[in-house]
Amino acid sequence: MIGKALQDNVEPGEVIFIDPSLVDDFWKRPADVNAYFCGLGVENVRHFCMTTQEFIGSSAYEALDEVGIVFIDGRHTQEQAKFDYESFKGLLAPRGLVLLHDSMVVRDDKVYGADKAYKMTVKYFVDQLKEDPSLQVFDLPFGASGLTLVRTLEGEASRSLHDWLGDPGLAKT
Ligand SMILES: C[S@@+](CC[C@H](N)C(=O)[O-])C[C@H]1O[C@@H](n2cnc3c(N)ncnc32)[C@H](O)[C@@H]1O
Repeated sequence: MIGKALQDNVEPGEVIFIDPSLVDDFWKRPADVNAYFCGLGVENVRHFCMTTQEFIGSSAYEALDEVGIVFIDGRHTQEQAKFDYESFKGLLAPRGLVLLHDSMVVRDDKVYGADKAYKMTVKYFVDQLKEDPSLQVFDLPFGASGLTLVRTLEGEASRSLHDWLGDPGLAKT
């Protein structure tokens, strides 16, 4: 949906999709991934079949420009959510957003199989973010375990909306 929205926008944009396909084989073969998105009419998704840990060591990460939205939905531990967040927060546009999925409930996650069940603790990382006065953090209580939106209030983000509108470069963000 994000890819389609970016594709339909008047300004160009793409989705950098990082998933090592650890739950199933869905994202393993580049041709299948490409066919899946093209079948939905979406041609602006670049998939990297690797963990975030691997991706941040890649030349693709080095080459990344400003990022508008970071959607975090990987392994649902507070440690991994923090790792994903910190890997991209420095690249976030001044008016950018971070979205953390499955962020409101602590429960068992059996997505890797019942024998590999682990505690979903993204909420604990979100609780830490809520302590930071430089951030605005908003929970959306939908689905089984919610979604949280985060944005910074510092730096360029602290400028008034009128300033933004007067600056053609930033108004695009
Ligand atoms: C809850 S699923 C999200 C699935 C995804 N939204 C989809 O539609 O396929 C969690 C995903 O996190 C990925 N994952 C697990 N560890 C990861 C890591 N260290 N870095 C990036 N992705 C990871 C898994 O491969 C899995 O597909």
